[in-house]
Amino acid sequence: PVLVVDFGAQYAQLIARRVREANVYSEIVPHTASVADLLAKDPAAIILSGGPSSVYATGAPFVDPALFEAGVPVLGICYGFQAMAQALGGTVAQTGRREYGGTAVSVDAAGTVLAGSPEQQTVWMSHGDAVHAAPEGFQVLATSEGSPVAAFEDPARRLYGMQWHPEVRHSSLGQQALENFLYRGAGLAPDWNPGNVIAEQVERIRAQVGDAQVICGLSGGVDSSVAAALVQKAVGEQLTCVFVDHGLLRSGEVEQVEKDFVAATNVRLKVVDARERFLHALAGHTDPETKRKIIGREFIRVFEDAAREVVEEAGEHAGGEVRFLVQGTLYPDVVESGGGEGAANIKSHHNVGGLPDDLQFELVEPLRTLFKDEVRAVGLELGVPEGIVWRQPFPGPGLGIRIIGEVTRDRLEILRAADAIAREELTRAGLDRDIWQCPVVLLADVRSVGVQGDGRTYGHPIVLRPVSSEDAMTADWTRMPYDVLATISTRITNEVPEVNRVVLDVTSKPPGTIEWE
Ligand code: XMP
Repeated sequence: PVLVVDFGAQYAQLIARRVREANVYSEIVPHTASVADLLAKDPAAIILSGGPSSVYATGAPFVDPALFEAGVPVLGICYGFQAMAQALGGTVAQTGRREYGGTAVSVDAAGTVLAGSPEQQTVWMSHGDAVHAAPEGFQVLATSEGSPVAAFEDPARRLYGMQWHPEVRHSSLGQQALENFLYRGAGLAPDWNPGNVIAEQVERIRAQVGDAQVICGLSGGVDSSVAAALVQKAVGEQLTCVFVDHGLLRSGEVEQVEKDFVAATNVRLKVVDARERFLHALAGHTDPETKRKIIGREFIRVFEDAAREVVEEAGEHAGGEVRFLVQGTLYPDVVESGGGEGAANIKSHHNVGGLPDDLQFELVEPLRTLFKDEVRAVGLELGVPEGIVWRQPFPGPGLGIRIIGEVTRDRLEILRAADAIAREELTRAGLDRDIWQCPVVLLADVRSVGVQGDGRTYGHPIVLRPVSSEDAMTADWTRMPYDVLATISTRITNEVPEVNRVVLDVTSKPPGTIEWE
């Protein structure tokens, strides 16, 4: 693989994704990995990422000069560039001139990494220190006002670096620079793609589970669906999927899983109808955290019971022990939790909750090397229905946290109807992939006066909460076309009798969260 050494900040994941977009497989490693650790992974190339430190701050992540003696091509970016310069005897100093954001650089020599670059270009910078003198043997390729050495290379040793961030889209020729490094600098071929993952994972899954039985909790979301489809392809006969219908789903979702997903993948599916149970447990409760806890608790119990049943049924088949639980863990989760390898033996997992002691599962996590967009590509390749592959995020507690107030059967019906209209119109307007998600919220304890036909109404408001986001950590309200909003509003007030007002939430996150509860 190409190893991306993570010096902190959020750049490493972006770099790893860009490398994969260049069809070269990449993995992220922490900067605490020793040179021996890095070389043990047999890297085709190494990229040192940006980071928040100054190279001479105490405790700044250190780059062992031995890394540059190993004969592996290395690209240093921002902090990684400065660390490389310093380790090899160049000088890094404060310029007193912070460069931040779009910055003009002059390219004096294209060399290998800047091949094809115009002499003047705008790149994305974010730094206080700068490289003042390149180490011996390096050619200076570019300069900017605040960076006497903004890019350099030593092609003989296959060492390259740049002060700016080629991984961000604001560096218009950034991807080209990365590809120059990968293809020309490191001599790599663009022969990796998410489709390759399928064959590889199928092999791995077979090797891991042998002839044991496997269970998978389906949520209807992208990750669990694609994970299940992969395991199905590998050991279909041994897999049972469990889908808990808690009654808090949106219109059509149960059918999407029960019919479309099963038809496309052939999985053996156990649908548990727990609608009454959840309604009963939620009755009388209005506090958001209490509602969330109740839903979480009931979910675990229902899943536990279903898992037990699957275990018992499997016991009747030959070799019927259930030992494995499929999880749709993605690469960002793996990186953020320290990047550990291998499957942990678990008793509980946050996605499923505490499983009973007598059910000890090992995890099968076939997506743990993939980013979300790659999971979608794999899903499409496996024939998972597009409606699932492109599904927007939907919270586990479902509509239960989108009814402000007590959750009742009638209120769920009202919200489901309004939500279905909003989703239909967003899809019709082609906005599904532009909007991160659009919660539709019922203010069940609020009523307002309206007029419809000749009569006074006293109904409930529906809130539309369209948001734009990269990762749900922060979000902005989406500036949606007025005519689409108008259509949604007209249809909801016409078609859902209990609703006489539709309002738009124009709050960013922070201070608002995406969901209302
Ligand atoms: P908030 O409301 O915290 O939501 O801004 C951030 C993102 O997380 C989703 N969300 C959940 N997803 N279980 C989930 O699987 C949950 O309990 C849950 N609560 C919120 C929310 O839809 C948004 O995408």
